[in-house]
Amino acid sequence: MKQMINVALPKGRLGEKVYSMFEAAGYECPSIREKNRKLIFENEETGVRYFWVKPSDVAIYVERGAADIGVAGKDILEEYRPNVYELLDLKTGVCKMMVAAKSDFHDDHSKTLRVATKFVNIARNYYAGKSRDIDIIKLNGSIEIAPILGLSDVIVDIVETGTTLKENDLQVYEDIFPISARLIANKSSFQFKTEQMEDLVASLKKQVEKQ
Ligand code: PRP
Repeated sequence: MKQMINVALPKGRLGEKVYSMFEAAGYECPSIREKNRKLIFENEETGVRYFWVKPSDVAIYVERGAADIGVAGKDILEEYRPNVYELLDLKTGVCKMMVAAKSDFHDDHSKTLRVATKFVNIARNYYAGKSRDIDIIKLNGSIEIAPILGLSDVIVDIVETGTTLKENDLQVYEDIFPISARLIANKSSFQFKTEQMEDLVASLKKQVEKQ
């Protein structure tokens, strides 16, 4: 009998888009479209079981084997460096990691730069690469407020449409890296379910090429 593949999907708009890709690839699970608050859905015919989890938790489920595969943004993978395989770039959820500041910001290298961010490791690595002294201020959201209130000089954050920056009078100061959603796999699941996973990757690849 075919073994089920457990898939952790990021709850929210990206997850819904990604589920549509899985569905088009032949891994449909109609009950997931029902309006309710369930978090786990399965379809024995297609051999998949989906879970909705917080986007930043997907890699934890996959790394520890509670999910065989999952979908996580490159931002999360860079920040937490989970011990997983990265199988495919789904080329959706495209945005970028950047440094932003007020338009009148000038970097004074004689001073420690105050950086507000959710992405502490990314910010630390980025500035270490430039040998720039920084003071990290870890926030959990609404990062754009920090330079406006004088809490930080810059922010390290994600920009997608640029609307949040624009509406708060901030500008991109430097690009750090491009982001998109990645298909990730638990390393030992990949050894045990290689054939099934390779089929899934091949079918999803076709969907990525179609978009
Ligand atoms: C993210 C990010 C920016 C915003 C960028 O925040 O941190 O604030 O989206 O999108 P935009 O360029 O299209 O405006 P999110 O909505 O995840 O909320 P947060 O404030 O909790 O980080």
